[in-house]
Amino acid sequence: MIKGQFPIEKFRFLETPFYYYDIDLLRQTLDIIKKETQGKNYHIHYAVKANANPRILREISSYGFGADCVSGNEILRAVECGFSPSNIVFAGVGKTDKEINLALDSDIFCFNVESLPEMETIEGLASKKGKRARIALRINPNIDAHTHEYITTGLNENKFGLNEQDLPKALNFITGASHIELIGIHFHIGSQITDLCAFENLCVRAMGWKHWFENRGVRLQLINVGGGLGINYKHPNHCPIANFESYFRLFDKHMKLNDDQSIHFEPGRSVVAPCGSLIAQTVYVKEGLSKKFLIIDAGMTDLIRPALYQAFHHIENMSSEEEPTCYDVVGPICESSDTFGKNREINKAKRGDLIAIRSAGAYGEVMASQYNCRKLPKSYFSDQI
Ligand code: LLP
Repeated sequence: MIKGQFPIEKFRFLETPFYYYDIDLLRQTLDIIKKETQGKNYHIHYAVKANANPRILREISSYGFGADCVSGNEILRAVECGFSPSNIVFAGVGKTDKEINLALDSDIFCFNVESLPEMETIEGLASKKGKRARIALRINPNIDAHTHEYITTGLNENKFGLNEQDLPKALNFITGASHIELIGIHFHIGSQITDLCAFENLCVRAMGWKHWFENRGVRLQLINVGGGLGINYKHPNHCPIANFESYFRLFDKHMKLNDDQSIHFEPGRSVVAPCGSLIAQTVYVKEGLSKKFLIIDAGMTDLIRPALYQAFHHIENMSSEEEPTCYDVVGPICESSDTFGKNREINKAKRGDLIAIRSAGAYGEVMASQYNCRKLPKSYFSDQI
């Protein structure tokens, strides 16, 4: 089964570790998103931060989707890779003057504003250019997304967005400002959310805020609900694609908008995680006193998620059909956290066996580092090798 999925004969000629992207799976995912959103007032802005590999970005932009960027360089990369600036939203708590100017010069669709001083800065810079910037206010809805604390963003204690008390002040400022135009509200409650109830709660809060603005005479064009839809890391072979159907249905059901109002989504992980695998080679099998270690040539520098968030990634030995054996799968980096999985049942391994770490297409390659003077991992695509 596994051998059928990966062109393992071709992998033998490539230097490990590397990222391998299954372009068919990416397209299947994009097809589903397109099918579930077309004919509705739904707009997709792919979260570039999840994977900014140019080939991947070009595939996604070819579907006509927009981009969600969090830095000036992400805006430049997105535009280079075919995303239209008129479909780019720009979030982030620390937008610099340089980045705001770049976004204004590029005529992006919308700034997702995260604080009062940021809003004042955008007004000032837009005024110097004689432009009018479209903005959405990112509201911190104080919703627990029940995900890892490092990837929870919508609680009062998080640094993101404006809180309830800021909103009257924000509205007051916008009313008197002539170089910003308020077009919507924005939320993002966290990432790898598998309990869809969190999104249901978000819809309730978002509708509440929409009415709050309407009661003050402001009609919003859009509600941006951010990203966050989780994927099934445990069973990548059985359910590789996220449950977009239930996800989008939920918004159909709970967001009551007029025909001229739209919902914007910023999915990242759910778009790209399933299609990517980190491919490594077994360097040594080491018998410890109480454990067996499968030591591979990929490390936390190539995929930091397990070390940083205790994230689970399914691991397979593509070269062996022998009985599963219990291993701790570790990398070569000089840190104990350089561990991809503990007590994993993996087909008995020997030196040189090829190992696949699955569902690594999101926040994998893009978070790689050069710690220990390592090379950044290369990437290969299923239709190019
Ligand atoms: N929109 C905003 C404003 C965001 O901050 C994020 C992710 C997204 C959209 C996309 O969320 P997604 O659909 O991918 O869940 N490095 C971590 C994830 C950090 C997510 C940061 N924000 C990880 O590897 O799990």
